[in-house]
Amino acid sequence: MKPTVAPYPTSRLRRLRKSPSIRAMVRENTLTPDDFIWPVFLMDGEDDETPIPSMPGVRRQTIDRVVKSAAMASDLGIPAMCLFPYTAMEHRTEDCAMAWSPDNLTNQAIRAIKDEVPEMTVMTDIALDPYNINGHDGYVDNGEILNDETVDALVKMALAQAEAGADILGPSDMMDGRIGAIRSALESEGHQNVAILSYTAKYASGFYGPFRDAVGASGALKGDKKTYQMDPANSEEAMRLVERDLMEGADMIMVKPGMPYLDICQRVKSTFGVPTFAYQVSGEYAMIQAAVQNGWLDGEKVMLESLMCFKRAGCDGILTYFAPEAARILNG
Ligand code: PBG
Repeated sequence: MKPTVAPYPTSRLRRLRKSPSIRAMVRENTLTPDDFIWPVFLMDGEDDETPIPSMPGVRRQTIDRVVKSAAMASDLGIPAMCLFPYTAMEHRTEDCAMAWSPDNLTNQAIRAIKDEVPEMTVMTDIALDPYNINGHDGYVDNGEILNDETVDALVKMALAQAEAGADILGPSDMMDGRIGAIRSALESEGHQNVAILSYTAKYASGFYGPFRDAVGASGALKGDKKTYQMDPANSEEAMRLVERDLMEGADMIMVKPGMPYLDICQRVKSTFGVPTFAYQVSGEYAMIQAAVQNGWLDGEKVMLESLMCFKRAGCDGILTYFAPEAARILNG
């Protein structure tokens, strides 16, 4: 690369850091509420919520409350929400049939939000873990996670969500072939305008711990997810996955977790140039909140800084539990 900077003192880079207005003029990236997808947790009942101890400030909400949250988020300029159900234990079975019931929590919530707050883009999660007796994202046979049988179930789940009115489906299961199978089912069932934001580079991460508490899957989970989620040591493999998911019909790509994987975000965006999202996951949120609660970090500063860094890395947007708080600050 040619040098673009003359030597000191001809060039003094501090000249462009002199004042807030000059810094604003030369700022390379911006963060706005448009960048956020807000993940929320659903629970049964009416007009109620329960806090999630490992995620201070986050709660599971009944559908009526989530609808109110959707209206609030829309007023804040947040374009999209992603729904995660806390399924009652009696609805978790070996065949995971609740996953494609038109009346499961997610599908009820999709309809309720689209009825009351139609401008809100509703995203879902596709994986069997909230409905599976053993906490895995796929069917388990003798300790093995079955790929193709799981994909058949995921297709049914996807169609039920599309039928309920979901705008974006988020397959988070990491089975092979699921994007193509879901895309062709959507096409043949008249849901050609439903988008897929694939959890493409999803790593087998320790940072999902608090989320598994939130959806009640931690106690149930036997073993780990390393035979389907990616090895944190790998980067080339993420490129192969992105290429494959795009060929199979994904509209957008996700990297997950976020902060420790910014190199992957940047590679995906610079190699493929497609809409790229990062998930700042539950453990990243918990880590920041724990330090803030101890008085060790300034919450507002590190929240906005961490979110801006995703933009700098090339992300088009971020799934973040901070969405409403950050939007409130950004709106002034
Ligand atoms: C389920 C799913 C997980 C998350 C999103 N979808 C957990 C997992 O894979 O175990 C994690 C989100 C977070 O930690 O915030 N397949």
